[in-house]
Amino acid sequence: MTKPPAIVVEHVSKQFAGTAQSSVDDCSFEVTAGQLIVLLGPSGCGKTTLLKLINRLYEPSAGRILLNGTDVMQLPVTNVRRQIGYVIQQTGLFPHMRVEANIAVVPRLLGWEQPRIDARIDQLLELLDLPNDYRRRYPRQLSGGEQQRVGIAQALAADPEIMLMDEPFGAVDAITRARLQEELLRIHRKLHKTILFVTHDVDEALRLADKIMVMRQGQIVQFDTPLALLTQPADQFVASLVASGDMLRRLGLLQVGAVAGPFDGNRMALADAPRVSVNGDVRAALSLLLGSGADVLVVVGDDEQPVGMLTFDIIQAAIRQSGQPPVGGR
Ligand SMILES: Nc1ncnc2c1ncn2[C@@H]1O[C@H](COP(=O)(O)OP(=O)(O)OP(=O)(O)O)[C@@H](O)[C@H]1O
Ligand SMILES: [Mg+2]
Repeated sequence: MTKPPAIVVEHVSKQFAGTAQSSVDDCSFEVTAGQLIVLLGPSGCGKTTLLKLINRLYEPSAGRILLNGTDVMQLPVTNVRRQIGYVIQQTGLFPHMRVEANIAVVPRLLGWEQPRIDARIDQLLELLDLPNDYRRRYPRQLSGGEQQRVGIAQALAADPEIMLMDEPFGAVDAITRARLQEELLRIHRKLHKTILFVTHDVDEALRLADKIMVMRQGQIVQFDTPLALLTQPADQFVASLVASGDMLRRLGLLQVGAVAGPFDGNRMALADAPRVSVNGDVRAALSLLLGSGADVLVVVGDDEQPVGMLTFDIIQAAIRQSGQPPVGGR
């Protein structure tokens, strides 16, 4: 039997009592395990409500939600808490509790022994690049970015399969935000969690997502890869949201990994070819390609091993798939 998708949402609606319109309106989609999905849309379009339906803080007015093939409403709440880590809008840290106690909240609820909790705290502080002596600090003694990291550690604590992240980087400055985005991508590549990440920042969505779900007024307008959103926007709303006309700028937000071709170890030119990181952006790769005179770039992973190749043709083909003008045509 093939594994069911990590998350299935079937015709789910949520209408709050006393409201005229559904906050989430007949949404259906599936998420494959290990994908990083970004929910993107204007304020009030239903992003937070959708996350809260998935982790059972709200009950759908219609439709159903399956986690690994099981209806969430049938699962015991402790199972839902264990399977899903939740990073809430603003930081969800308890101000009167030290960092270590904040990280330990869910493991405690699940009845873990103290040595296991301690070991897990050490591991998570290291994963998130936080000094171990931060354990004893209170949230107010940390910078905004550090607080966000502790929030992620808190959500990862019981090793959930699914992470729901509601604008986790909304409150930090641009530089910290870029660092946190990189860290999230690194953690995602390492742990392969299924992640639903909410933002209203288009650049953040394009940079992080395997697939982006664009929402508007409770409905899903388009659910597709960043590249497809840029090149084949479903309607004028999506097109103007992602400013798909500004191809060069948008290429700067696409990850090399999203367009790279498979690595061909037999190709002669590869030994001397310039290297780019799989996490680099396509615009920088394009300028390296054009500037160095090389006809191919070797794409390398975190461990510096080749994982793919990039050529002008590959970049152009990725953009052309949709009949949009090629990069050089602007
Ligand atoms: N508990 C509630 N009772 C009534 N209406 C609600 C409730 N929670 C949310 N809503 C309404 O549902 C709609 C969607 O809200 P939601 O919080 O999901 O939006 P959002 O996309 O997360 O917005 P933002 O980007 O501002 O966080 C809004 O119109 C909101 O007013
Ligand atoms: Mg919200």
